[in-house]
Amino acid sequence: MTKLNIGNVELDNNIILAPMAGITDSPLRRLAKSGGASLVYTEMVSAKSILYNSKKTKSLLRISNDERPISVQIFGSDAYIMAEAAKTIRDMDIDIIDINLGCPANKIVKTGAGSKLLSNEKLVSKILEYVVKSVDIPVTAKIRIGILPEENVASGIVKIAQSCGVKMLTIHARSVSQRHSGIPNLKLFADACRDAKIPIIANGGIIDEKTAISFMRIPNCKGIMIGRGAIGNYSIFKGLVDFFNNGNKLSSSSKTERMIWLKKHIGYSIEHYGEKKGLIVIRKIVNYYIRNLPNAAKIREIFNKIGTLSDFNRLIKFIF
Ligand SMILES: Cc1cc2nc3c(=O)[nH]c(=O)nc-3n(C[C@H](O)[C@H](O)[C@H](O)COP(=O)(O)O)c2cc1C
Repeated sequence: MTKLNIGNVELDNNIILAPMAGITDSPLRRLAKSGGASLVYTEMVSAKSILYNSKKTKSLLRISNDERPISVQIFGSDAYIMAEAAKTIRDMDIDIIDINLGCPANKIVKTGAGSKLLSNEKLVSKILEYVVKSVDIPVTAKIRIGILPEENVASGIVKIAQSCGVKMLTIHARSVSQRHSGIPNLKLFADACRDAKIPIIANGGIIDEKTAISFMRIPNCKGIMIGRGAIGNYSIFKGLVDFFNNGNKLSSSSKTERMIWLKKHIGYSIEHYGEKKGLIVIRKIVNYYIRNLPNAAKIREIFNKIGTLSDFNRLIKFIF
């Protein structure tokens, strides 16, 4: 894998952790970084809430030094507000700002933000132009390949992004209507990459070397972004770097490895939120760690009742 430059930010490799609301908080980002991810993103943050400086937003923007370089992803539909939010982020010494142009969630779409913007190229252009002009750090965007299956809106957005000075574009190769499941459309992705002059990063369903190669062999695809395939499996980043550099196959993550990551995750989570909240936050994603265990349902039930770190350590003993 090669280094990747996003404007003046040089990444060690081109394998990136995807932003995931409610999941990629600071503790998880630290794990992904230690597993070899070259770049991590915050969960999407509302541009408006950044200007209001709400308590929740402050918590979403708490970043630890070992996460750097880091990108803060913002969403919104008002170019002026997005540009002002970008300035605030820039002043927080953040490396990159990313614009969300792909979220399919109703509560985001009904405000005109996220994937809703893909049907309004004029507004996309205005938002990107305003944000790029407002800051001196690289601005990137994350989009969907299309709104409906077999539709390609990405090619148009690639051109707009380039002309606005966006430094990198991630394309989730599923349509908005597919939400987060279904097969990514590689053909449409290749069409969107064809005339790209900025780095294009592929996203959607990447879980191993086979799914990574299917994107990386497409001309102008300069890197890959992994979402759910990395949760509890953070060595996938180093594994893929080794695969692309030396041809070594990825080893599938064992139960022991996943439990080591889970223990580390809980440690970081308690450090970040305190013991009680730190354990509650992990409940949302513990499934990713235990899904392949024979007694996953039982473990989950016990996990939901855990209130202290020593309860958790007893559970780990039970698992083994
Ligand atoms: C729970 C969840 C939350 C997500 N939140 C965001 C988000 O805040 N911003 C964003 O651009 N994409 C978000 N996504 C989409 C992911 O970044 C990614 O595009 C998607 O999961 C596909 O990649 P994967 O198949 O590797 O998981 C989210 C996905 C999931 C499953």
